[in-house]
Amino acid sequence: MSDVKIVIDGREVKAEKGTTILDVAFKEGIEIPTLCYRKDLEPYGGCRLCTVEIETKGRITYVVSCLYPVEEGLIVRTRTPQVEKIRKIIVELLLARAPEAPELKKLKEEYQAEDGKFPKEPVFCILCGLCVRYCAEIKKKYAITFMESGLKREVRFIPEVASKECARCKECFPLCPTSYLQALYLLTSIFSSESLTQVVKG
Ligand code: SF4
Ligand code: FES
Repeated sequence: MSDVKIVIDGREVKAEKGTTILDVAFKEGIEIPTLCYRKDLEPYGGCRLCTVEIETKGRITYVVSCLYPVEEGLIVRTRTPQVEKIRKIIVELLLARAPEAPELKKLKEEYQAEDGKFPKEPVFCILCGLCVRYCAEIKKKYAITFMESGLKREVRFIPEVASKECARCKECFPLCPTSYLQALYLLTSIFSSESLTQVVKG
């Protein structure tokens, strides 16, 4: 693949066409926060935390860097006051869903986000999709899925598959950015009960 030249945080760099801004940033040692990204999984763009500022033809916009492919002449800024403000709001929104999540607590400090800015709905899942994608893409088991859409969106295990596959796998638990122990607890309790239909509500 051919290379394109982009400017990221004032530095001109060569990047492979087709790669994303996040790929380039990582390669250049530029830190961008992520919650739903994992190198070995297809990018999903669920958490929006990796938002950066881009300038093309003099026009400034904000994009999700894990999904945005680089193009010739792209100017990227990863830490402007507006970018920081956007990330702070995202952290505040996520904290409403998972106030005790260790990764969110770290981000709360970093972005001086307020816990309680948005009405709390502690459903523990931030819908990052890491568990769903890992199970489908790496394990090829499809034991976990998203159900519903919009505000009703949630993660569920498929009972017929999960009852056969999950007890001996559990590889998705430590991927969950909100609570490994909670996911473990929920799964364990569900496996010991009749119902496998309501899990990790999102
Ligand atoms: S259960 Fe955890 S890993 Fe799965 S989507 Fe929710 S937050 Fe992400
Ligand atoms: S890491 Fe890009 S949207 Fe989550």
